[in-house]
Amino acid sequence: MKSKLPNASTSIFAVMSKMAADYNALNLSQGFPNFESDPHLIELVNKAMKDGYNQYAPMPGDLGLREVIAQKTNNLHKRIYNPDTEITVTAGATQAIFTVIAAIIDKGDEVIIFTPAYDCYDPSIELFGGKTIPVQLKAPNYKVDWEEVEDKITNKTKLIIINTPHNPSGMMFSENDMLMLQELVEKHNLLVLSDEVYEHIIFDGNTHFSAARFPALASRSFITASFGKTFHNTGWKMGYCLAPEKLMTEFKKVHQYNVFSVNNPMQKALAEYLKTPNHYLGLSGFYQQKRDYFLDLIKDSRFKITPSKGTYFQMLDFSEISQENDITFSERLTKENKIATIPTSVFNTNGEDFKQIRVCFAKTEETLQEAAIILNAI
Ligand SMILES: Cc1ncc(COP(=O)(O)O)c(C=O)c1O
Repeated sequence: MKSKLPNASTSIFAVMSKMAADYNALNLSQGFPNFESDPHLIELVNKAMKDGYNQYAPMPGDLGLREVIAQKTNNLHKRIYNPDTEITVTAGATQAIFTVIAAIIDKGDEVIIFTPAYDCYDPSIELFGGKTIPVQLKAPNYKVDWEEVEDKITNKTKLIIINTPHNPSGMMFSENDMLMLQELVEKHNLLVLSDEVYEHIIFDGNTHFSAARFPALASRSFITASFGKTFHNTGWKMGYCLAPEKLMTEFKKVHQYNVFSVNNPMQKALAEYLKTPNHYLGLSGFYQQKRDYFLDLIKDSRFKITPSKGTYFQMLDFSEISQENDITFSERLTKENKIATIPTSVFNTNGEDFKQIRVCFAKTEETLQEAAIILNAI
């Protein structure tokens, strides 16, 4: 049988997590917290199950949850999404991203992505006959050159995918970046997928400039979000998508035949939990404390560090330690030093190697201390 994804292999996250287990290494590779979700949220899920919410939820999601998402978005970004027609609850952001691409990408369409890029964009584009057009961002600041972006737009370009705050670099789009994007997509009549899964993990008093904040941009954008990132429960695979009605109508046509609807008791619990904004507004402070704690512990290491501006990832530049390629370096660290990280060239379509590895600091202080002892000795 001819493969529809001939170049796809096992994701780097699965590879590195397995290697971490095989070599009994500390796992800072895959992006997940090693501490628990709030017991109150877990109780709310148990309660929803006991209260009998165990059958299919409505196709676009529990109405109470959609309403509280609408309220949250309006409070934070001053844009009203209609819970009936412009919000869909999804099985994590991954399903939302896949569904957006399935709904709008035809054979031959070109999609601009910024690399290093999260690994699900490119295969999803390929699966629907689209062509990924990468714009390479460069270490250490990973800034976008908007002239280069415009040069890559052709009459086949349909979609631009952005991700802010950005995995793996920890960079964030400024207000000016979003205005430049808005100008380009209006001028060239393009759609946008704005992957904002780290929207609540922002450091140093910076602002998250959601696509929802910019009227002309919002009118052309799908915005994807993940509860797993926000509430320390990546294994629940819960998220949502926001888009104006015309776009959301197309999204839902795919969603209903893809998953139809997602986990009902989780939705009931999240609807209740989200009514307290501190449950997500406190997250930036929580993770900034971890970032600062970790960076202080490794400040005398031989890694060069540009502090992450958002997300729970930190890039470590190892160019003063080794000239090995980043995959060899990461593998060696896992086997010999017993610490698993992610080589970031795998996020670059052309495999460009900036000698940077990514670590996840969504870990307990004990784990961060253990990691620092290892990193400081390298
Ligand atoms: C940039 C980015 N987008 C999407 C996702 C997927 O989110 P979810 O776990 O909710 O599917 C991730 C998860 O690591 C991510 O880093």
